[in-house]
Amino acid sequence: MDAYPLLPSFRQGILITALGSLSYALGRVIYNVFFHPLCRFPGPRGAACTRWWLAYKELGRGVSLSTLRAELHQKYGDIIRIAPNELHFARPTVYNEIYNSQNKWDKDYEYYRSFELDEAFFTQTDYLKSKHSRALVSNLFSRSAISEIQYLIRDQLDRFCDVLKQQNAAGKSSNLYLGFQCFSADAISKFLFATCFDQLSFPDFQGDIVKGIDMCMPSITLAKFSIVFVWMIRYCPPSILMILAPSLKGVVVFRTALETQVKSILQNPGLLDNAPHRVIYSELLNPEANKGLPQPTALKLCHEARVLFAAGSHTIGTTLMTGVYYLLRSPEAKQRLVDEVRTVWPLLDEAPSYEELEKLPFLTAVIKETLRIAVPTPAGLPRVVPPSGAIISGVDIPGGTVVSQSALFVSFSEDVFAQPHDFLPDRWLQPGSNALESWLVVFSKGPRSCLGINLAYCELYLTFAYIFRRFDVREDPIKRADLTWSEHFLPVFEGQHLHAYCDPRSE
Ligand code: HEM
Repeated sequence: MDAYPLLPSFRQGILITALGSLSYALGRVIYNVFFHPLCRFPGPRGAACTRWWLAYKELGRGVSLSTLRAELHQKYGDIIRIAPNELHFARPTVYNEIYNSQNKWDKDYEYYRSFELDEAFFTQTDYLKSKHSRALVSNLFSRSAISEIQYLIRDQLDRFCDVLKQQNAAGKSSNLYLGFQCFSADAISKFLFATCFDQLSFPDFQGDIVKGIDMCMPSITLAKFSIVFVWMIRYCPPSILMILAPSLKGVVVFRTALETQVKSILQNPGLLDNAPHRVIYSELLNPEANKGLPQPTALKLCHEARVLFAAGSHTIGTTLMTGVYYLLRSPEAKQRLVDEVRTVWPLLDEAPSYEELEKLPFLTAVIKETLRIAVPTPAGLPRVVPPSGAIISGVDIPGGTVVSQSALFVSFSEDVFAQPHDFLPDRWLQPGSNALESWLVVFSKGPRSCLGINLAYCELYLTFAYIFRRFDVREDPIKRADLTWSEHFLPVFEGQHLHAYCDPRSE
């Protein structure tokens, strides 16, 4: 006789589970469309039903989220419901309403977990939880600390210029997209770890880490929708990852190198005393600053290291490449820049300091215009409205709603910048142009804004000056650059990279 006559069979169990899941999903869709607090906001019906609509667009159809947002705003207006619980805003004034020093709104976990770096302060959703670690490393990024270590950047620039010279002597144009990525990767690794991953030494700037990071960026978009994929990255042993995705070799090598470095520092903290300058580990492991809190784990140190490296390399590389691209298409602006830099750098082998370069008005205008037009972090940075709700763009937004605005909607707003798609450094030199400063939002605003802004400016001033003072740069006419990109938090450039001939100047 059957011992459990009332229990369903295995097949019945599967059927019941499937029906249950289906009814739940259906119920959820009905709730999202008709009863959700955001049901009054316009947007595609699919987006209101489920987040999988966005997954279908981004992963299935390969549409870049930046393009999709622009299309949806065109069709549905200033505020769009881009996912069941998420709104995106187009009006540029909204940027300062969401991202400002008063708002300590949480980052959206569902989004930030896709980086698979849960221990780093960058991905901590709660501002208070991120504050301590951010404060520890922020000493390294202060204006005065950056002034002191500018020699590290100059050393890497000298190496970069040497490679450009060699490539030019061999009659080759240089891939400046990869070149700037290799330079910024070597500069940031020297700065953060007092170690160089030597990306500039790879032939034709084919740095393994730089290329690996480029290849793995689309995985952030995949991980945004699939927790299973996040787990796969977390638990997959490096050796297997390399077999499954050989193009990620550089990233795996980089991760392993950091893990080894962290392990040896934790085993022998005295190693930090021998470092030629302060590095992130000296700050994160500083017992006084930690005030009796538990020592950071190896995993936390590795996550902080990976975030800081990624944040400080790709963004700088993209900005430099974009600035050079536009300058090569604006011969008059390029000549003005060269002439101005010469005023503080008359003799080729006596390069000026960052502080001298910073005072040059046209170079400063070129850097601001480059940052505006490059938008090196085009993602909408999603924040969660606190339980009390908020008024954004003059509309009541319920607590718990995820809200975002991509900086693209500020940089390319015709209400803020005349002819926003044109590269016009002079817009920053007009009487009253100080008012434009608050619209340069590419480093974001508020308590979670960019920690590396001082380092970024220092690298940009030095690099633009070095490249245009030391070389006569001409775009390779055979390999015309195509700056088409798609958004995977950062931009991934899909077209022909910028190639240029860099003829060394003799005086
Ligand atoms: C042109 C260069 C750069 C741009 C445009 C830029 C932009 C940004 C933006 C928009 C954010 C906010 C991200 C978010 O809310 O999720 C951010 C955060 C951050 N950036 Fe940058 N960044 C640049 C360079 C750097 C550099 C050189 C570093 C140095 C390591 C750096 C380190 C960071 C860190 C650590 C954060 C996280 C801050 C936090 O969550 O508290 N960035 N950056």
